Amino acid sequence: MAERKPIISGNWKMNLNHFEAIQLVQKLSYALTKDDVEAVDVSIHPPFTDLRSVQTVLEADKIPIALGAQNCHWESSGAFTGEIAPVMLAKLNVSLVIAGHSERRQLFGETNQDVNRKIKAILNAEMTPIMACGETLEQREAGEMEEHIVTQITEGLSGIKSEHVADMVIAYEPIWAIGTGATATPEDAQEVCALVRATVGNLYTSGTADKVRIQYGGSVKPGTAPELMSQPDIDGALIGGAALSSEDFAHCIQYRLR
Ligand code: PGA
Repeated sequence: MAERKPIISGNWKMNLNHFEAIQLVQKLSYALTKDDVEAVDVSIHPPFTDLRSVQTVLEADKIPIALGAQNCHWESSGAFTGEIAPVMLAKLNVSLVIAGHSERRQLFGETNQDVNRKIKAILNAEMTPIMACGETLEQREAGEMEEHIVTQITEGLSGIKSEHVADMVIAYEPIWAIGTGATATPEDAQEVCALVRATVGNLYTSGTADKVRIQYGGSVKPGTAPELMSQPDIDGALIGGAALSSEDFAHCIQYRLR
């Protein structure tokens, strides 16, 4: 089995202006040790307006945290008012971009086809996609979770080469657990992350499935991170609320010590 380096990502959503962003990054850099960032890949995903400021701090202070974005468009330029192109993000040394977060899907109507176009564009700009998937409570209760997740993965990855899939990140985020305080149990989270990996295995090879890193997301907190991270198919976490506190986010990253 491949050794998969854990990856913990902070999704700041629509929070913090660029002054507040700089403060949070600096506090986070004090809270993390060299060992922490050697053991775990860490990324932060601030709003677009914060990216340049955060990039400058990360680079000036040589902070080993990857810069990420929360979304992008699939075209590289053109008449798309209000959108941001992947190449613009790459120019700011953004290395990871979330595609298909449930809030994008639910509130802004993103389809699996949109997500697929975004993933291809992110890869074209030589960045790593974090493709998010997850079911609603209604889908789970109606017994439709499995079909929904398999469809999201299959359509989201359509036409993407095996070697790219192996290097990307997939985040399983049950919608009912996002921002609600209702974390999935480690067993529930493991079950669906294993399904995600098996789906990648069916679409590609077991080698690809073995390499792809899978994050769990949905109300991850310092107290729940250790057990979630100990599950065999959970390689990381995508964290919203707790990523807005340097202390809580650092404690999640330090799950091994807790
Ligand atoms: P949460 O958000 O940790 O606040 O539940 C996770 C996410 O939406 O990525």
